[in-house]
Amino acid sequence: MTLMQSFSELMHQRQQRETVKRSRPVETEVTKLDVRNLNFFYGDKQALFDVSMTVAERSVTAFIGPSGCGKSTFLRTLNRMNDIIEGTSHNGQVLLEGQDIYARDVDVVALRKRVGMVFQKSTPFPKSIFENVAYGPRVAGQKQYKALVEIVEQSLKRAALWDEVKDRLNDSALALSGGQQQRLCIARALATNPDVLLMDEPASALDPASTARIEDLIFELKQNYTIVIVTHNMQQAARISDRTAFFFQGYLIEVDATQKLFTTPTKKQTEDYITGRFG
Ligand SMILES: Nc1ncnc2c1ncn2[C@@H]1O[C@H](COP(=O)(O)OP(=O)(O)OP(=O)(O)O)[C@@H](O)[C@H]1O
Ligand SMILES: [Mg+2]
Repeated sequence: MTLMQSFSELMHQRQQRETVKRSRPVETEVTKLDVRNLNFFYGDKQALFDVSMTVAERSVTAFIGPSGCGKSTFLRTLNRMNDIIEGTSHNGQVLLEGQDIYARDVDVVALRKRVGMVFQKSTPFPKSIFENVAYGPRVAGQKQYKALVEIVEQSLKRAALWDEVKDRLNDSALALSGGQQQRLCIARALATNPDVLLMDEPASALDPASTARIEDLIFELKQNYTIVIVTHNMQQAARISDRTAFFFQGYLIEVDATQKLFTTPTKKQTEDYITGRFG
């Protein structure tokens, strides 16, 4: 079987799952993020070239491409995480619901609450499971213990971790398995009630069973959140994303419906990459 055929097969399985899941009709697509002509620089080294794309609300968008092509850099521009790296600059616009997130009056802390982030390597704080999830809401000013208990339970449930940890919320988060720690980090991101969730290779360090759990979770979460995920795993992109963007050497080469991009890409570079001819 060729790679293209196996992608078609994956997409077919995927569509069946989707038809079962979507009990309510698919609403008209609403644009959540709108990136316009974005150029990004580390010092004088340009890492992104004239990137423009939109991300629809309540959808999953996957970024793929070879190492060093700018996927993480681009992901970090979507919640200004690059601001903390010395000597970076950009031009162009990133609009969140039509508002420029780089405008002068934007509260960056509030922005990062709306646009949460989960990293490749889960990084729980050396604190209890409860405290890890309660941290964000606490910093945001939530002082009532009862409200925090509620938020922690809700977030852990949404991250599909509650059943595994409900009897040991005061244990150290570091005692959890890798897959559980990753879901804890997702719960931590959800606790500040974001609209958008950015994930940079959230499953790359996990075993197949934990990866499957994270993929199922992403599928669930898109009912309520807009998700952007970087992945090196093209099967994973095909399984979970609605749209896929292919990056190469700092350029967005092609972005399209996942099924279209994996079965009939329009650019030769995309085809070469997904058929394994390079990268
Ligand atoms: N903090 C940094 N300072 C300087 N250059 C950086 C920094 N982070 C990334 N770069 C450069 O920007 C380019 C894009 O890197 P980026 O990390 O966005 O790629 P990537 O597609 O996420 O790669 P990978 O798949 O390996 O994670 C690379 O040339 C990289 O060396
Ligand atoms: Mg990266």
